[in-house]
Amino acid sequence: MTVSTTSLPEPSYTFQATVDAAGPQVVGGKGVRISIEKEGQVYDDMLDAISGAAVGSLGWGDEDVFEIINNAARSSTYSYPPLITNKAAEALSKFFVDNSPKGAFAAALWCCSGSESNDNAIRIIRQYYLERGLPNKVKLISRASSYHGFTLGAQSISWNPRVDAYEPYLMDREKIVIQISPAYSYRFKKDAETEEAYSQRLIDELEKKILDNDPDTIASVTVETLPGSSLGTCPPPKGYLKGIRDLCNKYDLIFHLDEVMCGTGRSNPNGKLHCWENFLEPCDAPDIQTVGKTLGSGYVTIAGVLVGPKIRDVYLSGSNSVAGGHTYSSHAFNCAVALGIQEKIKKENLTANIFEMGNLMGQKLKDALLSKSNIAGDVRGIGGFWSIEFVKDRATKEPFDCSLNVGGRFKAVCFDNKLCVMGMPGNPDGSCGDRALLAPSFIITEEIVDEIVEKVVKSVDILSKQLHAEGAW
Ligand SMILES: Cc1ncc(COP(=O)(O)O)c(C=O)c1O
Repeated sequence: MTVSTTSLPEPSYTFQATVDAAGPQVVGGKGVRISIEKEGQVYDDMLDAISGAAVGSLGWGDEDVFEIINNAARSSTYSYPPLITNKAAEALSKFFVDNSPKGAFAAALWCCSGSESNDNAIRIIRQYYLERGLPNKVKLISRASSYHGFTLGAQSISWNPRVDAYEPYLMDREKIVIQISPAYSYRFKKDAETEEAYSQRLIDELEKKILDNDPDTIASVTVETLPGSSLGTCPPPKGYLKGIRDLCNKYDLIFHLDEVMCGTGRSNPNGKLHCWENFLEPCDAPDIQTVGKTLGSGYVTIAGVLVGPKIRDVYLSGSNSVAGGHTYSSHAFNCAVALGIQEKIKKENLTANIFEMGNLMGQKLKDALLSKSNIAGDVRGIGGFWSIEFVKDRATKEPFDCSLNVGGRFKAVCFDNKLCVMGMPGNPDGSCGDRALLAPSFIITEEIVDEIVEKVVKSVDILSKQLHAEGAW
């Protein structure tokens, strides 16, 4: 497994993760394999089952992308977008409008990260109501156990243990940001309840929150279509997203879907772009949607905000302007590369491939893990985005104590088995267990699916045995 030894690791000059150590570093990648340098040794041929953080859609070192990048570099000239825009940004926006269900979106804004996209979505929603002469519609509804990003705006609408320390700098999380329950069937759907009844219970809770907080002061409802790191890919129960859509219509609220992690081809059933197409008709599309990650497939730093006709029309009949912007929004080079990548994905039908191969991977993991005694409590996901939730007791769903670091340890065991996954800790209040996330690139074959499943199952068995030996399971 170790192919070479490098010089001893130097102290880190980068201010992230472990401050005084560089930690594992990627030193190469081809297709679904990456090479990682760790503690002075290079580990080759690691199977990348998470593609960074659900980012890589095309796999690494793609020769066509190098060509796309070369052409984009030659044809792109920087301009400050509020003053002078560029053709690549326009073309990428048109691509998303044309490849979304008819009438769903009318325009797009391109940013550099998912967090920035969510911050911009909040700004766009604010101006939408100002354009309509409704300045009091300011409150933002979002869900417990959610993640919308790392900036203070995106953190303000996120609810997870990682956010708590920053509360003093966030928007008022009682008067402005209103929390609702997550849609998390594995833990919170009652046994006697149908999926539809569970959805109705959540929708009733949302309606009560809206009424209790004065609908005339509420601006939007934000949810991740398929939650990622915060909850581990739990699909929304039947009728849930439609129920939110209907309440947004009823009380004049903006319906915002965050598809930064689950969208742009990762979990679409039609060989197209959006995860919500699993659950909603085109006429029930979100009013605004944030995207990122697979958009640039890790080759460029790009994310975006897709704007529906309802919002765009209000701007058109109002000021018809957006004042200011980021230095690097609508960045010509990033947009040209992302467009080339999306066109390649479309041409090679890779969204359909990952939907089929990802679902096969999920089914094989379910069959292999849940038929045996081990720490896997639930295996869930859609298309190319899956999670395993670990529990101490499958019958009661009791999560492991956070101090055991089961998510982190699982990631380490997988690493030893030459597999990269994301391991996430459980919530300290027990509302969600430790999880492992899988999001391979769109190019996987059945052979790669089998290899991922084999390595995951082996890693689950090893960790189960370790925890058993420690008396923790
Ligand atoms: C659902 C969701 N929204 C927003 C973000 C933030 O994106 P970024 O890390 O690109 O800022 C993430 C990142 O994982 C995410 O999963």
